[in-house]
Amino acid sequence: MTARWGAAPTAHELTAVERLSADELRALQLTRLQWTLRHAYENVPFYRKKFDEAGVRPQDCRELTDLAGFPVTTKHDLRDNYPFGMFAVPQEQVRRIHASSGTTGKPTVVGYTAEDIDTWATVMARSIFAAGGRPGHKVHVAYGYGLFTGGLGAHYGAEKLGCTVIPASGGMTARQVQIITDFRPEIIMVTPTYMLTLLDEFERQGIHPETSSLRVGIFGAEPWTEKMRAEIETRAGLDAVDIYGLSEVMGPGVAQECVETKDGLHIWEDHFLPEVIDPVYGTVLPDGETGELLFTSLTKQALPIIRYRTRDLTALRPGTARPAFRRMDKVTGRSDDMIILRGVNVFPTQIEEIVLGTAGLSPHFQLRLSRRDRMDHLTVVVEARPDAPAQDRIAAAGEIVGRVKDGVGVTVAVEVVDPETLERSVGKLKRIIDERPKD
Ligand code: DLL
Repeated sequence: MTARWGAAPTAHELTAVERLSADELRALQLTRLQWTLRHAYENVPFYRKKFDEAGVRPQDCRELTDLAGFPVTTKHDLRDNYPFGMFAVPQEQVRRIHASSGTTGKPTVVGYTAEDIDTWATVMARSIFAAGGRPGHKVHVAYGYGLFTGGLGAHYGAEKLGCTVIPASGGMTARQVQIITDFRPEIIMVTPTYMLTLLDEFERQGIHPETSSLRVGIFGAEPWTEKMRAEIETRAGLDAVDIYGLSEVMGPGVAQECVETKDGLHIWEDHFLPEVIDPVYGTVLPDGETGELLFTSLTKQALPIIRYRTRDLTALRPGTARPAFRRMDKVTGRSDDMIILRGVNVFPTQIEEIVLGTAGLSPHFQLRLSRRDRMDHLTVVVEARPDAPAQDRIAAAGEIVGRVKDGVGVTVAVEVVDPETLERSVGKLKRIIDERPKD
């Protein structure tokens, strides 16, 4: 989809790093990787033990590919070292702490030095620029502020780029619409599902969202599909681009889609080194093959992270709009969100594509998992569009059943419910409601 608003920047508008050749970038990565491995080994007992057990030393890393010989790090490792056991600097040097809530058990805790916060703001500023943001733009940040990295990450990046930040955070949806209408921001940063909630609220207040001042939406923190992009772009009259990140690696701004190409996310590889592995065997896959994404931080001081298993599934591709930086495909699935239904893997994004491609249905849907006769069942509960005639609902439900059967290979039940009946997102949406008995 071509950009409505964002034009490709000229070379002199890019930062020096974005103009590096691939070889120059690789050389920078190697020096930084060697520093990171030493820093982790010397300052974090967890890494020293892991490296020793695996029989590797930081000096064994002579080329970037040598990283494959180092052990991986998981969310469990962060939890086992709760709260500050993974930190590599004395606590007085830690300027900020974030944490991800996690659905079970302890949160994962991450820390930043003053320089880490500056690095984060730098990559976020680069991301907002790549999305089409420019100094002087007003940026409405509707990612949650707090221990979640979304709000503050976006905030510091927008300020660093020279934008005017409107720190709205999540929630109080009617007021958000009023603020957007009155303050006239060009950019909005929000989860895609909360954007849908905002669009409905615009319409409820009798305002056509495409008449708003918004030109670019920078959407992330949860998976979303090309169909969702089309839905939001059409209704809001803006360019919708994807932003990716995770707290263990930094927060938002690890990778960003460029508005002029909208072809996947460029990874800011001068700070974050990606690998893709086979999720079962752990072997590194060549670029172009889909597997689990791993990251190694290259400059982080407070929390160096080595080969972190994100559980996100994607493939690496060559750079386009920023040629030296590889892209990652849009993350359409996370191994944690995969539903296994009678032996078939189902990702919520596959259902999203189908729901959004069915006439008369809104983009608001839930996936309910239940168990009957020792078999798992999936019910897609989806709201009708307010303007859709009631008699079309049965046809729409039948269409989804057929397209899920043909496209995904499983049988699901579909319930089309009245508009405004499902709970709305105010941040990351909980798409799957698991009603199966705990055994
Ligand atoms: O969600 C950071 C973030 C905030 C990214 C705002 C973008 C915008 P966590 O709470 O640690 O951090 O969750 C990280 O969210 O491993 C992915 O599974 C998912 N995720 C983040 N961005 C995307 C995206 C933030 N663009 C986890 N597409 C990650 C799909 C995403 N999934």
